[in-house]
Amino acid sequence: MTRTPVIAGNWKMHLTRRKSSALARDVAAHHGHAENRRCVVFPTFVHLDHVRRNLKNSNVVLGAQNCWPKKEGAFTGEISPYMLRDMGVQVVLLGHSERRHVIGEEDALIAEKVKLVLRAKLDVMLCIGETLEEREGNRTFEVLARQLKSLKMVKPGQEGRVSVAYEPVWAIGTGKTATPEMAQSAHAEARSQIEGILGAEAAARMPILYGGSVKAGNAAELLSQPDVDGALVGGAALTIEQFGPILDAASA
Ligand code: 13P
Repeated sequence: MTRTPVIAGNWKMHLTRRKSSALARDVAAHHGHAENRRCVVFPTFVHLDHVRRNLKNSNVVLGAQNCWPKKEGAFTGEISPYMLRDMGVQVVLLGHSERRHVIGEEDALIAEKVKLVLRAKLDVMLCIGETLEEREGNRTFEVLARQLKSLKMVKPGQEGRVSVAYEPVWAIGTGKTATPEMAQSAHAEARSQIEGILGAEAAARMPILYGGSVKAGNAAELLSQPDVDGALVGGAALTIEQFGPILDAASA
């Protein structure tokens, strides 16, 4: 099974409107209409419209970093996946470790989000990953299995709109990257869990991205692992000087 590599930039709560627009133009120019890789950017909500306009003339996909699992209603401060779709968003990042561990989101809420994002006809990128304590306690696979249960919300026919990002919490923003072997072992385990939930064909087709201190210098080696189908990049996605070579590593 050959899976098209996906390189995604999670811009988190960074950049000004002007800088995110400029970065969008740079990413669009670098990626162009390449077909041997997919490129996704996740700007902060308030920059989505500007970024969308600046991605024109490319096939870079516009993503949002989060949403609320309701179509509309009295949810002050929240944003519906239908509003995101109306804005030109195609994919929503769900369950990022900062939402799980800083904001306190739990699996049940994330599962509801998976359900509504798919119902709104948007794609889902579901983040999973263990903390250092969980890894040291040999609980990595158990944590991945628990977090992947949100995929039970995926209905037949929706599987092709889902991707997973394995981001070990201890590797995010720390400069500590999982070794390619550690990443491969977690990705293979995740794929086998996905198979148990969605079947062999969906599991074989599903892109599983690695995230956590991905840089130009380690991207190619991580991407060479058989079950590593892309990268979800944080810090190194904020300049084209760093992000460009990661995009290139995916199509090398
Ligand atoms: P860093 O690449 O900065 O470690 O962030 C990874 C991440 O959280 C992407 O979602």
